[in-house]
Amino acid sequence: MSSTLFRTKKVEQSILDTEEPEHALKKSLSALDLTVFGVGVVIGTGIFVLTGTVAKNNAGPAVALSFVVAGVVCALAALCYAEFASTLPVAGSAYTFSYASLGELPAWIIGWDLVLEFALGTAVVAVGWSGYIQSLLANAGWEMPDALAGRDAADGFGFDILAAALVLVLTGILVLGMKLSARVTQVVVAIKVAVVLVVIIAGAFFVKSANYDPFIPPSQPQEAGGELHAPLIQLIFGWAPANFGVMGIFTAASIVFFAFIGFDIVATAAEETRNPQRDMPRGILGSLFICTALYVGVSIVVTGMQHYSKLSVDAPLADAFKATGHPFFAGLISFGAAVGLTTVCMILLLGQTRVFFAMSRDGLLPRFFSRVHPRFKTPYRPTILLGVLIAIVAGFTSLSELAELVNIGTLFAFVIVAISVIILRRTRPDLHRAFRTPWVPVLPVVSVCASLWLMLNLPTETWLRFAIWMALGVVVYFLYGRGHSRLGRHEETSVGEVMKPRRDAE
Ligand code: ALA
Repeated sequence: MSSTLFRTKKVEQSILDTEEPEHALKKSLSALDLTVFGVGVVIGTGIFVLTGTVAKNNAGPAVALSFVVAGVVCALAALCYAEFASTLPVAGSAYTFSYASLGELPAWIIGWDLVLEFALGTAVVAVGWSGYIQSLLANAGWEMPDALAGRDAADGFGFDILAAALVLVLTGILVLGMKLSARVTQVVVAIKVAVVLVVIIAGAFFVKSANYDPFIPPSQPQEAGGELHAPLIQLIFGWAPANFGVMGIFTAASIVFFAFIGFDIVATAAEETRNPQRDMPRGILGSLFICTALYVGVSIVVTGMQHYSKLSVDAPLADAFKATGHPFFAGLISFGAAVGLTTVCMILLLGQTRVFFAMSRDGLLPRFFSRVHPRFKTPYRPTILLGVLIAIVAGFTSLSELAELVNIGTLFAFVIVAISVIILRRTRPDLHRAFRTPWVPVLPVVSVCASLWLMLNLPTETWLRFAIWMALGVVVYFLYGRGHSRLGRHEETSVGEVMKPRRDAE
């Protein structure tokens, strides 16, 4: 049995599958499209919302260092993703990579994990977007009725109609085709980056050096919240739960990590890229570098404009400008955030449908979902199914606490990808790798340790929720995926017909 659980899908077979006309995606993206996609999905709720929360609660002005820590962890993982994406330009990202190296069960687990990451990520960002729109509407004197505003509905029924509507509109755009969505993204990304630059450049004039004192606030015991709220690492080592100080920088890094989520999604579009060998590494590393620089800039400026203890948790960037008496900039930033979050949502949704598509093409999920649209050449079935489900989730739930769940899922994927790089180098040294991760195996091992370290800095309750989701995934695999796996069926046919030993059949 263990041999079937760890059966691997040949790299050549993965590439061949993408060439079946009924299951083939259109190859239309360039390196610039990919970088824009990366920046489009990466800059979002993390910088526009979480910066304030973590500066206020966990790190103070040192949140800039937290962004550096999270950026380094992502850069290490990005170097591993880039090797895989340039060797195996197939939809499905970490899922496809681990199918080629670790085997079917680990691949299923990672695919299941990515579905969690992207689906909840989309919903979290949609709810955040709805918050910004509602605050812009409120500025114009128009309050949403409680029942349609979602989160704060006082009497029972509450549906965040804006969040749900956003997800449905984006689903429609994705069904119509990649190229259209790439164009929409380019315009939106330009607005978003411009607004972030305005924050850095205009904000720099209002910085007061007194606000940086202390840059790393002294460690403080955490207020009561139960052991489940404490980072797992504190529980393991029996440390008293604390905020700020040096450990606070790492706790903050594990939360602002959300701000970087998305560069890995560039890899999910590998199959739709014209020249993946050259463009994938450029797209992944380029978008990550741009975002890290912008984040560090924004967090230094914002914590310099307003004392960290006074930053707002809902709209810290806009409110810092309001606090310094510049409401015009505040309005501009809110507008940019509202526009910018749409692309984050769209690309998370895109990544999610592509992973689902790849899993279905392999038979681990029903094959019905891997038929592309005859005209638009997009995987419209999973796009519509998942789009509607996520719209419902985004409408009914307040998901801010689940952002941490998204982080743990992504970090877990990083661990698996880094391990997969080492394994595939050993099992398939012959493969052409357009981009090679430097210093293998040292760099992937450091990447695994760095990702695990951030995971350990997440709350214990996040670990528990993650464990439940993954256990559910294993059950689904044994009930459906294992029996329907296309790879498994190929093996059975080959073994039955020509009586080859299993290893040959693989
Ligand atoms: N990185 C994305 C954000 O910050 C998910 O919203």
